[in-house]
Amino acid sequence: METPFVYGKVAKNNEFTNRIKDVTYLTNNFKGLINTIIVSPRRWGKTSLVNKVAEQFENDTNYFLCKIDVFNCRTRDQFYSAFANSVLKASVTDWEGFAAGVKKYLSALLPKIALSDSVQSYELSFGVDFNEKSLTIDEILDLPYKIALEKNRKFIVCIDEFQNVSDYEDFIGFQQALRAHWQQHDNVCYCLFGSKRHMLLKIFNEYNMPFYKFGDILFLEKISTVDWIKFISGRFTDTNKEISDELSSEIAKKVNNHPYYVQQLSQQVWLRTEKNVTEETVSESFESLINQLSLLFTNLIDSMTIKQINFLIAIAKGEKNFSSKQVLSNYNLGTSANIKNLKNFALDKDLIDIKGDLIEFQDPMFEYWILNNYLKN
Ligand SMILES: Nc1ncnc2c1ncn2[C@@H]1O[C@H](COP(=O)(O)OP(=O)(O)OP(=O)(O)O)[C@@H](O)[C@H]1O
Ligand SMILES: [Mg+2]
Repeated sequence: METPFVYGKVAKNNEFTNRIKDVTYLTNNFKGLINTIIVSPRRWGKTSLVNKVAEQFENDTNYFLCKIDVFNCRTRDQFYSAFANSVLKASVTDWEGFAAGVKKYLSALLPKIALSDSVQSYELSFGVDFNEKSLTIDEILDLPYKIALEKNRKFIVCIDEFQNVSDYEDFIGFQQALRAHWQQHDNVCYCLFGSKRHMLLKIFNEYNMPFYKFGDILFLEKISTVDWIKFISGRFTDTNKEISDELSSEIAKKVNNHPYYVQQLSQQVWLRTEKNVTEETVSESFESLINQLSLLFTNLIDSMTIKQINFLIAIAKGEKNFSSKQVLSNYNLGTSANIKNLKNFALDKDLIDIKGDLIEFQDPMFEYWILNNYLKN
């Protein structure tokens, strides 16, 4: 059965709501070749947004556009390989073009080109692989610039999960290499995006880091309740079911407007509804979602120390002043020096987000579960 909501996948076409301001902003930055860094917590819609904007450029003969996901690139060599493959593929239409491009631009690297028999579509299966010793990165990093120059187009390079590069060996040296090349590329726009706000800000916002002031930084916001109401009721109407604005708003609010969960909860409600959504259905669906997530949250909690758990409880209960003696003792958090470790732990695990003095849970369902299930058991 086709269901009208999507979660865990890129939201496309009519699964994608609003973000008009962000789409316009990013489109203009791409056109103006302004490097852009997009930051948001997990599952707020970075990939969906970039995809949406990228679509407009994919068939435009003034541009080449490539999307690189470096989630699985664990080393610098894997990064370079993914980069070279994506950039080359974006600039050719067939296997012959790809092979010619490799020969022309990368011959000094002695790349191996693999064409797998098992895959029908050669476009997916070809690729270059680098012999480590011969790896010289200059040619790879200049690829989009050179191709754009020669073909008289502009190149837009989008790199997803960019926070992963901070695990690479000699991370600073790596950033220096990238920056040294990319800042010369006046015909290329780089769009780098990912989660882990604190880490990305360190890369792009710290004076002594190579990527300082590399481009605009866009902090993606959640989608507003008003927009969710329009979206949810639209998806119900399209599939011959009805939901009131109040209940659409209730769905969004229950999950704190978190894009992934709004879609997931809407889906649960939709599946339980014959024709008209009722308040009971929304509550029931929410409880069922919490139950589904419960095992995951229990495992997460089981992997933490008591102090780490207490720290999360304190945040969920709205505590702000973690250096106060009272908070430290009420929640048994140890000394105030320990708070830094606890914060780092929670940031590192993507559990919280810190904006100035404000500490927020990244996952609104986890926060709800701690307060209403974990603490009440
Ligand atoms: N514009 C949107 N309209 C409707 N739903 C959206 C939108 N953007 C995101 N979503 C919902 O959020 C989910 C996650 O989106 P997406 O994968 O784009 O986020 P992300 O920020 O790239 O996540 P991650 O940090 O895990 O890579 C989607 O599957 C969809 O359910
Ligand atoms: Mg993503």
